[in-house]
Order: sequence, then structure tokens, then C-alpha cells
Amino acid sequence: MIEIDDLTVKFGGVRGLSQLTASLAEPVTGLVGPNGAGKTTLINVLSGFVRPATGSVRVDGRDLNGIPIHKRAAFGIRRTFQNEQVVENLTASDNVAAVLDNVPGDGRPRRQSIEAALEFVGLSAERDTLGNDLNAYQRRMLEIARATVGRPRLVMMDEPGAGLAQHESEHLRNVIKRINGYCGAQVLLVDHDVDLISATCAATLVLDFGSAIACGPTQDVLADPKVRAAYLGVLEEVT
Ligand SMILES: Nc1ncnc2c1ncn2[C@@H]1O[C@H](COP(=O)(O)OP(=O)(O)O)[C@@H](O)[C@H]1O
Ligand SMILES: [Mg+2]
Repeated sequence: MIEIDDLTVKFGGVRGLSQLTASLAEPVTGLVGPNGAGKTTLINVLSGFVRPATGSVRVDGRDLNGIPIHKRAAFGIRRTFQNEQVVENLTASDNVAAVLDNVPGDGRPRRQSIEAALEFVGLSAERDTLGNDLNAYQRRMLEIARATVGRPRLVMMDEPGAGLAQHESEHLRNVIKRINGYCGAQVLLVDHDVDLISATCAATLVLDFGSAIACGPTQDVLADPKVRAAYLGVLEEVT
């Protein structure tokens, strides 16, 4: 459960977020909006990279203002990045192990948790491959393995579908649908692919200029005239 209350983020004179209030309870929630709307900024506030000027966010009832950035992953707030953060000179397996060094385990032997995370994203065969030798899609999947190992509460994904081929997107879609069942974490998904959002997210929050212009069941939100206007016709072909 994510409860966002009156959240404002300022970058000098620019507002990254403006008095944003929203409550996100679905296991998988979409976060959409035009470029510059504040999607990445919201993820950065949740993961602790950006401090809000005002307001608060609670995750599963805990006020994040009280949790310093280096303790957020251990608390269960995990993410993938727009540009993957895979460690080039570590194997896929060691990339996942490096995360487990910093977060609580799931009760199973460490080796088993790592294998399970790699299997979950379809990278068992690449366990001994160096990050450097993984292709873009495999790196994307490895980031998901890193974000889901241990006991995550909230997994945030920033445009995981960007630039993927059709069959890769389909696999990604299936993995996203299974995250909550696999590790119990709530998922917050940022993506421009409306098909991906529709297929995976029961609810969607739409940002424009740092504020919520719609929030609710995904199909209702995507049909909302305000949302369609904000996208300047981008949705016309899809719905
Ligand atoms: N570190 C930063 N410094 C200055 N301005 C920023 C910074 N990060 C984001 N912004 C600004 O905040 C607004 C929201 O950006 P962002 O959250 O990246 O949007 P989105 O992810 O929805 O495309 C934009 O106007 C952007 O230029
Ligand atoms: Mg962004």
C-alpha cells in the first residue's frame, strides 16, 4: 500500500511534483504521463534519491521520511532503472548475490534464493555469464531478478519495456504479472506502452506537470478525456 500525501518536489524553480496526493493499493499499479510529468521523480522520492520539499509517502504504513536512503532497500523498497545498473564484471548470479548482501533473505539458503530469482526471470542458463556479456534484454531481466530477490515490499520499474522486441515484451509482461505472486511485493510500473499497462495494471495513476490528473481502474483512466488530452492523441490508436 502506497499513500502519497501532498508531495511536492522542487528542482530549483522547476517542480518535479506538485502537491501530489494518491493512494495506491492494487498489487500492480501503472504510473503514466507525458515526458517530464514527474514519474521518475516519484520513483526517486520513494527510493530516497530525491527529498521532497513538502509532503510524505507511507509504504505499508511506514512514513518513508523516517527511513534513510541506505536503509530503504532493506526495508523492501526496490527498483529498476531507466538505464540498467547491472555490474559489468560480475556474473549474473553474483549480481543478484550482491543485492542479497544488503537486504534480508527470504529464509531459504542464499544459493537457492539466487537461483530462484534467476529462474524467475528466465536467466538460469546465464547464471555464470558476466554482466558485460549479457544483451540489453537479459540485463533488463537481471535487474528484475535483483529487485525481487529477498523480501521486497515494493518493486518499482522505470520503463522496463523500452526498446524491447515483440517476443521480449511478451516475456516481460508475463514476468511483471507474476512478481506479486512470486515474492509478495506490490509493483509500480512506469511505461509508455499502454498495451503493457493495460495488460498488467489493475489501477493506474496518471501524472501531468507533477500532479495527478487521474487515478483509478486502468480502463476507466485510459478512457478519461483529460488523460487522452494530456497524451495529445497518443492513446487514440490504442483504446
Ligand atoms: N535532477 C533534476 N534536476 C532538475 N530538474 C529535474 C531533475 N529531475 C527531474 N527534473 C525535472 O522534473 C520534471 C519531472 O521529471 P521526471 O520525473 O524525470 O519526468 P518523467 O520521468 O515523467 O519523464 C521535469 O521537468 C524534469 O526536467
Ligand atoms: Mg522518466
